[in-house]
Amino acid sequence: GAPVEVDISALKPGEKMTVEWRGKPVWILRRTPEMLASVKQVDGEVADPESDRKSYPTPEYAKNEHRSIKPEFWVGVGICTHLGCSPSDKLQPGPQPSLPDNWGGGFLCPCHGSTFDMAGRVFKNKPAPDNLEVPPHMYLSDTRLLIG
Ligand code: FES
Repeated sequence: GAPVEVDISALKPGEKMTVEWRGKPVWILRRTPEMLASVKQVDGEVADPESDRKSYPTPEYAKNEHRSIKPEFWVGVGICTHLGCSPSDKLQPGPQPSLPDNWGGGFLCPCHGSTFDMAGRVFKNKPAPDNLEVPPHMYLSDTRLLIG
């Protein structure tokens, strides 16, 4: 499939947009400092904090705690790594009453309850085996992103 060029200039802090790439939904999440703090907070609770695993490919530039080129923007594929359901987002950082206390928001898969943080990192002991995929991408400018 051809790479997809995306204009992210209208994306406000705390917002997520979805574009389609190779038939998959790709999310672009513009994270606030609070959202980034919520990622930092759960380093000990996620299964593969720095995306080191070789079982799924993470681009070198996303093998870091925020899983992105720029901390503010996370680019990831919105498909659960368990059986391919579409996780819903909970982009309000902070405890979620109906869920384990240390889940500070992010993404929740409705199919079997896997939780992911705001960097798409899966929490330990969940059905999803791996973090959400980070597709190959690069910045063409501050406001233009190329996915693929
Ligand atoms: Fe997401 Fe099973 S498909 S937890």
